[in-house]
Amino acid sequence: MSKEFKRTLITSALPYANGPVHIGHLAGVYVPADIYARYKRLKGEEVLFIGGSDEHGVPITIKAKAEGVTPQDIVDRYHNIIKDSFKELGITFDVYGRTTSETHRKTASDFFRKLYDKGEFIEKTSQQLYDAEANQFLADRYVTGTCPHCGNEHAYGDQCEACGTSLNATDLINPRSAITGNTPVLKETSHWYLPLDKWEPRLRQWILEDHKEWRSNVYGQCKSWLDMGLQPRAVSRDLDWGIPVPVEGAEGKVLYVWFDAPIGYISNTIDCVGDDWEKWWKDKDTRMIHFIGKDNIVFHCIVFPAMLMADGSYNLPDNVPANEFLNLEDNKISTSRNYAVWLHEYLQELPGRQDELRYVLTANAPETKDNNFTWGDYQQRVNSELVAILGNFINRAVVLTHKYFEGNVPAAGELLDVDKELIAEVEKLKNEMTEQLDAFRFRDALRTAMDMARAGNKYLQETEPWKVSKTDMARTATILNIALQTCANLAIAFEPFLPFMSEKLMKMLNVENLTWDKLGSFTLLPAGSKISEPVLLFEKVEDEVVVFQQEKLRKTVEQNKLAAWTPEPVKENVEYDDFAKVDIRVGKVLECSNVPKSKKLLEFKIDDGMEGRTILSGIAAYYKPEDLVGKEVCFIANFPPRKMMGRESMGMILSAVNADGSLTVIGPQGEVKPGATVG
Ligand code: 2FM
Ligand code: ZN
Repeated sequence: MSKEFKRTLITSALPYANGPVHIGHLAGVYVPADIYARYKRLKGEEVLFIGGSDEHGVPITIKAKAEGVTPQDIVDRYHNIIKDSFKELGITFDVYGRTTSETHRKTASDFFRKLYDKGEFIEKTSQQLYDAEANQFLADRYVTGTCPHCGNEHAYGDQCEACGTSLNATDLINPRSAITGNTPVLKETSHWYLPLDKWEPRLRQWILEDHKEWRSNVYGQCKSWLDMGLQPRAVSRDLDWGIPVPVEGAEGKVLYVWFDAPIGYISNTIDCVGDDWEKWWKDKDTRMIHFIGKDNIVFHCIVFPAMLMADGSYNLPDNVPANEFLNLEDNKISTSRNYAVWLHEYLQELPGRQDELRYVLTANAPETKDNNFTWGDYQQRVNSELVAILGNFINRAVVLTHKYFEGNVPAAGELLDVDKELIAEVEKLKNEMTEQLDAFRFRDALRTAMDMARAGNKYLQETEPWKVSKTDMARTATILNIALQTCANLAIAFEPFLPFMSEKLMKMLNVENLTWDKLGSFTLLPAGSKISEPVLLFEKVEDEVVVFQQEKLRKTVEQNKLAAWTPEPVKENVEYDDFAKVDIRVGKVLECSNVPKSKKLLEFKIDDGMEGRTILSGIAAYYKPEDLVGKEVCFIANFPPRKMMGRESMGMILSAVNADGSLTVIGPQGEVKPGATVG
C-alpha cells in the first residue's frame, strides 16, 4: 500500500441465500474478512464491514422450484439462518443486509439508469437458449453442458466450476435445460450489454501496472482475462425474479444478478450509515477491500470495477484478497450435494466452540492454494495447539499467581536477561504480525501469535517459578508479572482470530480497552491489581466428536451415491436357446458357514433335490450364515466345479446387486420343491 488512507471499507461476498453457509464460505471469505475488520478496529482505525445476502439470481429460483415454494420463501428462510449463524460465530458485520430490500432495489435501479442515460450500455438483439416446454429463456445456471475450455460435462451457463472460466450460456457444448433436461432451442431476445472492452485499457493499467502487489492468484486470473481480450457483457436477463430493468419496454427483463449483487455493497452501506454513505464509496481517503472466493475474482476485479468506472464517481477496490477453495476430507464441498460442514449445525453440535473453528480455518486457510479440512486435523490442532500451547500457558500463569500471590498481580523487580529476551521477542512478534496482517497473510499472522504463546511456555519452562518460589519470592514475583503481562499481550494478539477467548482472558485478567498499539507493552496489568479465578479457555476434542462428524459425512456420500444410482444398461439381446443352456435351480440351504481365513466367502450345503451339493458364494459381508439356513435360493447348477480357498464349489448362488454394491440373495417367492428348474 503506497498511499495512506483515513478509513477502510471492507466488503465480504454476499452469499446466495439458497442454502446455509459452510466452512468453505467461512475459510474463503468471512473469517479472514472479520480478522481484518477486528484488526483495523483494534488499531483504532475507522472501518465499515459490509455483509449481506445475495437474494436474486438463478441459484435461488432453482432451489425454490426444487422445493415447490416461492423464491421469496427461500431467501427469507436462508437469510435468517445465515445472518444468525454469522453473528454466533462472532463475525462483526456493521450491517448484514439483503438484496431484496427496497434500498437495494432503488440503488441498483438508479445505478443502471445512470449508466443507461449516459449511454454506457449497448442494446443488442441475439439468439439465446430457450426451453420451449418450460416456456423460458435459459440464463446462467438454468443451462448445463460441456465447458469449451476444459471439457467438464457439468459446466453452468455462467461459469465452469471445474476450471473457473466465466461463460456465456451459448458457449456450452451439448447444452441441456436444467428445468426439463431438454436440448434448448435458440430464440431471439434483446439485452443491455456493458462494453467491458471499452474499459480494458484502464483496467490493464489499474490492475497490471498499479496493483502488482495483489495476490498472485488474483493478479494472474485478471491478467489472463485481460490478455484474452474483454467482450461486452449482458447485464440483463429474461427472468421473473430480480430487479426489473428500469427502462420502458423492458417488461419481463431483470438486472443480471452479477450486476445487482455488488451494488448490494453500496445499498448495505446506505442502510448502515444513511446519508454518510458517499464518504465510504467516493472519498479518495477511503480504501476499499473486497474479500471473496476465487470464483468471484472476475466479477470483483473486472466487471464491477468497469461498472464503477462507467459511473465515474466511485473509488475502485485497493485490494481483492481472494482465497482459493477449501475441500472437506479430500472431496469438494457442495451445497447441492449437502456435502459440507454447515455453520448452523456446527454451532448446534459443538456449542461454545466458535474459536476452535475460527482457529482451524485460519491455520489451514486456502490463501495460496486449495486446502483440505479434516476432522482429524481439527482435533489435532485444537488439542495440541489451542489446549496444549495457548491454554496451557495462560492457565499456568494464572494458577501460579493465585497460588503464590492470592490472585494479585505481583510487582516486577529487576529484570534478568531471560525476561528481557521474552519482552524483545513479543515486540518482534508484534511487528511480524502487523506486517502479515497488513499483507492479508492471516495464516502466517496466526502462527506468529501462537509463537508468542510458545515463547511464554518456554519462558516458564526456563524460569521455573514453581521451584524459585521455594527460595526467592521477589524473583517469583517478577517472573509471574512478566508471564501475566504476556497473557495480556496474547489477549490483544489473538483478538482478531479468537475473539471469545480474548474476551474471557481480558475478564480473567481484569483488564479492558486493550488496543493494538499496546501490544508489546509489559505494563498492561498494574502491580497489585486483582485477577479472577482461572476459567477453562479451551477443551480437548474427544475422539467421539471426530467419529460422529466423519460418520455424518460418510452417510451423506452414501446417500448421494444412492440418489445418483441408475440401473445398468441392458445387455445385448440373446437367443432363448442360449439362455436355456444355463440350468438355474431352486435349492434349500441346509447348512451355511464362514470359510476360515476368507472375509468374503460363505460355504453352503444345499439340498438340490438330488445328491445335494456344496456352493461357495462371496456374500459373507452381507449375511450372518445362520440367517440363511432354511432359506430357498436360486443357483446355477451346470457351471463346472471350481476351486476356491482349497474347497470345491458346484455352482453359483444368484444375488441382486444393490445400488450401494451390496448383494441380496435371490429365491422363490412361494414354496418350491428343491431341484425345481427356473426359466
Ligand atoms: O458466488 C456467490 O455466492 C455470489 N452470491 C457472490 C456475490 S458477491 C457480491 F457481488 F455480492
Ligand atoms: Zn471448464
